[in-house]
Amino acid sequence: MELHHSDTCMTPSLRRIRDLEDKMFLNCGKFLTLLVAAMLLSGSAASAQAPKIRVGIMLPYTGTFAQLGTAITNGFRLAIAERGGKLGGRELEFFTVDDEAEPSKAPENTNKLVQRDKVDVLVGTVHSGVQMGMVKIARETNTLLIIPNAGLDAATGALCAPNIFRTSFSNWQPSYPMGKVLADRGIRNVVSLAWKYGAGEEAVAGFTEGFIKAGGKSVRGLWIPFPNAEFQALLTEIASTKPDAVFVFFAGAGAAKFVKDYAAAGLRKTIPLYGSGFLTDGILDAIQDSGQGLETTLHYADGLNTKRDKEFRTAYVKAHTSEPDVYAVQGFDAGLLLAAGLEAVKGDISKRKELIAAMEKAKIDSPRGAWTLSKAHNPIQDIYLRKVVGRENRFVSIAHKALADPARGCKM
Ligand code: PHB
Repeated sequence: MELHHSDTCMTPSLRRIRDLEDKMFLNCGKFLTLLVAAMLLSGSAASAQAPKIRVGIMLPYTGTFAQLGTAITNGFRLAIAERGGKLGGRELEFFTVDDEAEPSKAPENTNKLVQRDKVDVLVGTVHSGVQMGMVKIARETNTLLIIPNAGLDAATGALCAPNIFRTSFSNWQPSYPMGKVLADRGIRNVVSLAWKYGAGEEAVAGFTEGFIKAGGKSVRGLWIPFPNAEFQALLTEIASTKPDAVFVFFAGAGAAKFVKDYAAAGLRKTIPLYGSGFLTDGILDAIQDSGQGLETTLHYADGLNTKRDKEFRTAYVKAHTSEPDVYAVQGFDAGLLLAAGLEAVKGDISKRKELIAAMEKAKIDSPRGAWTLSKAHNPIQDIYLRKVVGRENRFVSIAHKALADPARGCKM
């Protein structure tokens, strides 16, 4: 039975109970309304909240290039963190593989990310031989790939593709201008020394092209297998050959060992040593004073003294308690390029055409100086001449302004 009572015939205590009931009903109603609204909202949010973008990071975290992989990762993550962890409104989820700079494991490692983890985008790697494996799989599966270091010329040359981008350099690019620097100094006969794999061969080829074109006479090639760092026999050979200068390609821990060995052999006083800037980038603490005065060419330098670079360096040191190097910059720029693409499509990575178009026309506000991409998706960038002074690869001059890789064999 339902009891209906009018307010007028109620005792004060009954009225209080009624008031209480009314309030409860009201509150209950409000509560229910809120609950329903919340459910509706969360329901629609759940359906609107797109899944995270799956980013596969494949870099060396062990071996001679371990430090390079770490610096790239730090730079990449900094760019994402500066955007609140989201690009185009979408959160990112990271899947990471240590590729050990081991080309024979490249297909298996790339497939862990592409087939197993089903990543939306691949970021990697450092070693040109490993890059070859990644590029092949990216082409076969049409996976978006951003290369944050490896210079493999073919990646933005004969194997160029709409889904393949690079934020670093081609192996030709930083070495080619050093040829003219040396020829202009009257150097005519050079011995080159490099690891015998894609990056070493292409760096020496780029240097040789620039050197001969600018008046150099001969480049005699000496080689050592990657990642071998036993240089004594080669140093003895250089000492007996007595070239005007030596040009080398080494990087990471192997470069640190080479610079120390070259100085210890007493060769710095008799035969000047030059290289692409990988020879001295990221290793100045390790080589201490043995690198003083070394001149190299690269797309980054200490002491650029721009507002952009200073901001980046401050943020990087704060986040990672170490100074950034060229590898950190390339990783950072990989984040900026991905951001440019995803922001243009508001996080909808399935809009592949618009995403690629936005990446292609992005102007990357890089710590190295702003750059744009060539048609083959490789940075058009200034190459700096630098000199080791104290613990810096100090900017000396621009060796080549806005240098674009020739992109030989790229049909795009
Ligand atoms: C490469 O293998 O392409 C490579 C590796 C390390 C560098 C530069 C290029 O510092």
